[in-house]
Amino acid sequence: MKYTTIDTLGKSVGKEVTLAGWLYNSRASGKIQFLIVRDGTGLCQCIVEKGIVPDELFDQLKHLGQESSLTVTGTVRADQRSVGGYELAVTNAQIIAPAEGYPITPKSHGIDFLLKNRHLHLRSHRQWCIGRVRHTVVDAIRRFFNDNGFILIDTPIFTAIVGEDQQSLFEVDYFGSPLHLTQTGQLYLESAAMSFGKVYCFGPTFRAEKSKTRRHLTEFWMVEPEVAFIDLQGLLELAENFVSFIVTQVLQNNKSELEALEADIVSLEKIKPPFYRLTYTEAVEILTSQKTKDFLARQLTQLKEQKQQIENRIAELEAQQTSQLKQWQKDKITAELIELRSELAELDTKIENNPKHAELAAEFQWGKDLGGSDETIISQMHDKPVFVTHYPKEAKAFYMKTDRAEEKVVLNFDLLAPAGFGEIIGGSVREDDYDRLLARIQEQGLNPETYDWYLDLRKYGSVPHGGFGLGVERTVAWLTSEKHIRQCIAFPRLMDKVYI
Ligand code: 4AD
Ligand code: MG
Repeated sequence: MKYTTIDTLGKSVGKEVTLAGWLYNSRASGKIQFLIVRDGTGLCQCIVEKGIVPDELFDQLKHLGQESSLTVTGTVRADQRSVGGYELAVTNAQIIAPAEGYPITPKSHGIDFLLKNRHLHLRSHRQWCIGRVRHTVVDAIRRFFNDNGFILIDTPIFTAIVGEDQQSLFEVDYFGSPLHLTQTGQLYLESAAMSFGKVYCFGPTFRAEKSKTRRHLTEFWMVEPEVAFIDLQGLLELAENFVSFIVTQVLQNNKSELEALEADIVSLEKIKPPFYRLTYTEAVEILTSQKTKDFLARQLTQLKEQKQQIENRIAELEAQQTSQLKQWQKDKITAELIELRSELAELDTKIENNPKHAELAAEFQWGKDLGGSDETIISQMHDKPVFVTHYPKEAKAFYMKTDRAEEKVVLNFDLLAPAGFGEIIGGSVREDDYDRLLARIQEQGLNPETYDWYLDLRKYGSVPHGGFGLGVERTVAWLTSEKHIRQCIAFPRLMDKVYI
């Protein structure tokens, strides 16, 4: 039996089709039932009328639990108001496996509960939309590099070298000797770039960062290109073309998902090169300026106004709750209240943090790495991504090349996504001078013997080269306006918990 998929219903208007899927939601009103069926490709409202289907089936469907699997047969009608734009006038249905007491109901649940039930939560429309956007992002990443002459190199996950910082290593016992899980494929890629010219790696990356922020996972996916004969300007151009390509692909393929997620499509449509370029020193000037102080003060006023609006709406709903309502109306109010209360809690955190972040920014000292809140402020003040370049040497990794015109800074960049999402890319030109690189390795207290092979690259035909790394989950969070990156990977690994 061949089933029609929901994404192709447009081709079958007026025809009879059979869908195979799961019951996502349902509502009955006297002699008519509205079943929302999902089949992996989308959602479809199926209308069941008493008298048109046998009475026994009508009754069975009425009591069918959420997430029961079934097939439904009926005639396709175009209907703008319906989810997906089409609906099914049901003539027959077959229950495959009934489900009872599905734990995740259309009501809202706490995040802890949802993460514990991630194996089921993946079926929710929100997670489905995010998963599809992520799929496009991953596809666009591969396509961009494959179409631009890059060769894929799969770099190892077990490694002895420290690619970023020593504090965030996951040690493993490798047959009695210590190794750790990779923080970056970059150092291996540099050696491959000397063979192929332009290369990239794309895989899982591990950081034992003790950060419980919305931007940190302990296991995340990173794509890293590395190019021989490139300078900082070349890297910035590569990065802005790359990010713009990803955004274009997502807008092309996932408009309806972005709409359902209430992502900021208008802003995404503006993402085209050139992006803004600031040096670190300029970024510090911005952070410590009166303009930023005023900006944050205005933001605080707006946050308080939003809080007032939400509190008013909550009071309104609480008053409605006490009146005579049908069960589904009560459920709807409860769901909205849960959402509003969680928004309120978030606003409270923002209101509490605003003065702290303002103080951190105002007192920012040249030399420190930009913190999460500093990145947020700069990125909130821009409507397109911002490159921040030329960070102080001390704040950055050993492999970054110092600016020969100003030795206290390195030729690096971070790319901050707009609207407060913060860093999505980190990259740099690499130190290509043997002696300077060796000195940096020693300064950082790393064992030069482990870096023998890496130093070799500076002995045998060293060339200017560089690259960057883009975090997939942070990119997806930005594109989908998802607050926490844990929602942007199917099975997130968080510092405080690995759920399933
Ligand atoms: O800035 P990072 O640490 O750069 C590197 O690893 C370089 N070796 C890349 C290179 O030049 N080839 O990490 C790059 C990106 C960040 O901008 C961020 O998007 C993501 O990886 N990232 C994380 N994403 C989620 N959770 C974490 N704990 C992350 N740490 C970094
Ligand atoms: Mg970084």
